[in-house]
Amino acid sequence: MSQVLVVNASIQGDNGNSSALTAHYIAQLSDATIIQRALTPNTVPALSGAEMGAWMTEASDRTSEQAELAKISDDLIAEVQAADTIVVGMPMYNFGAPSTFKAWVDHIARAGVTFRYTENGPEGLLADKKVIVAIASGGKYKDTPMDTLTPWLRTFFNFLGLSDVHFVYAEGLAMGEPEAVLNAAKAELEALV
Ligand SMILES: Cc1cc2nc3c(=O)[nH]c(=O)nc-3n(C[C@H](O)[C@H](O)[C@H](O)COP(=O)(O)O)c2cc1C
Repeated sequence: MSQVLVVNASIQGDNGNSSALTAHYIAQLSDATIIQRALTPNTVPALSGAEMGAWMTEASDRTSEQAELAKISDDLIAEVQAADTIVVGMPMYNFGAPSTFKAWVDHIARAGVTFRYTENGPEGLLADKKVIVAIASGGKYKDTPMDTLTPWLRTFFNFLGLSDVHFVYAEGLAMGEPEAVLNAAKAELEALV
């Protein structure tokens, strides 16, 4: 049975347009274990120096506070490692990703765990898996220099060793006909199942 990790970052929770897209994708799956990771500042706080210090301290030498801090990243990485497919609900907020999603990125990029540096440059350490990013935005940016999300996310996932990355866009949600836009994106997601 395949395992699917759903990472949602909408501040509207399940009511977000991006969350509706990831929900639609998993509704098409008949035989999969679904792990839901709804990002909030409480569950995935911004990365701190203390937390990185905990990563760099041998597990056996960590204080109890460091052990707690390291666990945040350990748990998020374990979810990613266990997944065959990662589905991301990606709202555009202020021309970029939600801060909670950036925090998730900062927690799963860990030298020696999910990537390493070699003589030939960085090498991703995650086994390849399918990544689907469903972008929801009020305006339209695809294929223009204002699309800050696609190149960044492709680079980031490639950096970790994930090259099978697909993007689905629900753009122009604030420009009329949001239902038609969402339905078209849902049809594209169905094709990716
Ligand atoms: C705080 C905030 C900032 C936003 N900034 C942008 C933006 O920079 N560009 C844009 O096209 N839409 C912007 N929007 C509209 C969202 O992209 C749109 O509402 C989308 O549905 C958000 O995804 P969600 O519904 O899953 O939260 C913004 C919305 C919010 C709430």
